[in-house]
Amino acid sequence: MTYLFCNWKMYLTNNEAMALASELATMQIPKTLTAAVFPNTMDFIGVRDALAETSFAVGSQNVAWVPQGAYTGATSAHLFHEAGAAYALVGHSERRHVFGETDEDARKKVEACMDVGIVPVLCIGETKEDLDAGKREYRLKKQLRAALEGLDIPVNSLMIAYEPVWAISAGGASDSCDPDVAQEVHMWLKQELRAYSPAPFSVLYGGSVTPENVVSFTACPAIDGVLVGSASTHTNQMRALLTACA
Ligand code: PGA
Repeated sequence: MTYLFCNWKMYLTNNEAMALASELATMQIPKTLTAAVFPNTMDFIGVRDALAETSFAVGSQNVAWVPQGAYTGATSAHLFHEAGAAYALVGHSERRHVFGETDEDARKKVEACMDVGIVPVLCIGETKEDLDAGKREYRLKKQLRAALEGLDIPVNSLMIAYEPVWAISAGGASDSCDPDVAQEVHMWLKQELRAYSPAPFSVLYGGSVTPENVVSFTACPAIDGVLVGSASTHTNQMRALLTACA
């Protein structure tokens, strides 16, 4: 099974998100593909309803770990679960680097998701500074340990997305990771993940994935799928991504 997860970030207006969702509802998802879209919180319910009759799952881009209460501006894993989220991104690099979320926050969010039955997609990745300092493995190990150590992880209850921060597009053109390097990192990650659960984890690659390069990642044996940002917000590119992943 290959995963195509689509992180719409805050790229779209409500009208644009709804238009894209209605287009997606007409597209064929290859049988070998698990596809999910992650709209922003405001669009979540509308997109969920537009995709209700399709095989697209819907996920949240972030969750708060407390279930309910006096937490201005927050939307919890509990509330997203009630609204039908199957997945949630946790610790996305923009949450970490723009909004100051810590490894400890990611841990609480992973636990909150697992408690309610949402599959957290724990996003990890090194910055350019880490990479230049030869600290890729150090950063990934640290992020994994903080989020997962001591956690009971039943099979298929948690996924990992390896997203090198320097490869994320921020909407413009950016260099994706070399697929051979991504394959090596994924192999290494899968070895590391054995310390946390004997059951295999699905590990996605994210960072400047496009219809043109998607197969170079999905063809790698250690890469279980992709987390796509910018390209997933355009109808024609979504159609091309689905075709390429077939
Ligand atoms: P990108 O974003 O595909 O636009 O690089 C990926 C992500 O941040 O999940």
